[in-house]
Amino acid sequence: MLILGIETSCDETSASVVEDGINIRSNIIASQVDIHKKYGGVVPELASRRHVENINIVINQSLEEGRVSLNDIDAISVTVGPGLVGALLVGLSVAKGIAYAKGVPLIGVNHLEGHILSIFIERPQIEFPFMALIVSGGHTDLYLVHRVGDYHLLGRTRDDAAGESFDKVANMLGLWYPGGPIIEKIAEGRDPKRLDFPRAYLGKDSLDFSFSGVKTSVRNYLKEKGIPRDGDGSPSIGDISASFQEAVIDVLTSKVIKASKIEGVKTIVIAGGVASNKRLRMRITETGEKEGLKVYYPSPLLCTDNAAMIACAGYYRYIDDKRLCYDLLNMDAEPNMRLG
Ligand code: KG4
Ligand code: ZN
Repeated sequence: MLILGIETSCDETSASVVEDGINIRSNIIASQVDIHKKYGGVVPELASRRHVENINIVINQSLEEGRVSLNDIDAISVTVGPGLVGALLVGLSVAKGIAYAKGVPLIGVNHLEGHILSIFIERPQIEFPFMALIVSGGHTDLYLVHRVGDYHLLGRTRDDAAGESFDKVANMLGLWYPGGPIIEKIAEGRDPKRLDFPRAYLGKDSLDFSFSGVKTSVRNYLKEKGIPRDGDGSPSIGDISASFQEAVIDVLTSKVIKASKIEGVKTIVIAGGVASNKRLRMRITETGEKEGLKVYYPSPLLCTDNAAMIACAGYYRYIDDKRLCYDLLNMDAEPNMRLG
């Protein structure tokens, strides 16, 4: 079964052709980082406009690279939420148009479900139930996944998402958007214990997260000391980044392991943009191994927003329950869509 996936929930315009939920024929991602960079974050109106400019080009490229035409596509899978409403509407309108014109089913996918099920592209054999931690720019959510379509939310951030805190701290340090990759890079080889930023565990039994405290603590530190200059002996930007990154990773590691132990699951999946962070991957894997837990991550390109994960999620949704799709004309964008 060939599915064309379309993803426009935030600042990536992406289209992908995926066969039977696992074989990626193409996965085209047009990033908008260049236009949002100077604002330190995504500007919704600019994102929508850029999606309009790019969407047809990206879809055509995905078909070309996948060596298929629209006539070969069996279904369209599109992100309906959560995300920026104007951005979502671009992908959804195009998807509706193609589905209507070609008479194929339209599958509306929750972006978060796309992140969770992206693991099945490379590891279709993963067994349920598993613990899923979604760490992205908009979410930090812990789900117990019983099966496709059955997600139980155990904890979520009460303020900033993990990725958002990376973006905000990068901005304070005079670095660019998105902050995660640049903070990871300059933290490499630096001392993660140099500064002791706070870790918010929110009480013994809580599986919720909070990252605004660590962010504010970095801000206060910089207010007091200023942005360090090289060679003056004070902690460098690299040390600050490494110490901040470690504080975030400590909390994520502790909570996902704790949740797995409470629920008695042996498998953990980490997904979303922040899951491409190498130190986070190493730390959670090592800690998990000590506890007898297996930890899986999509490869980095499938962690950040992409349409292959939407096509994959659409495939599993479709084979699970065909009634879930196709209210073609009434399907609408759901900017605040929840999962579980
Ligand atoms: O999943 P994603 O592409 O988009 C959303 O659904 O939000 O995640 C983007 C977020 C951004 O906040 C970005 O700074 C963060 O993921 N990110 C990272 C890394 N790569 C992307 N954070 C930490 N380390 C990284 N290597
Ligand atoms: Zn995402």
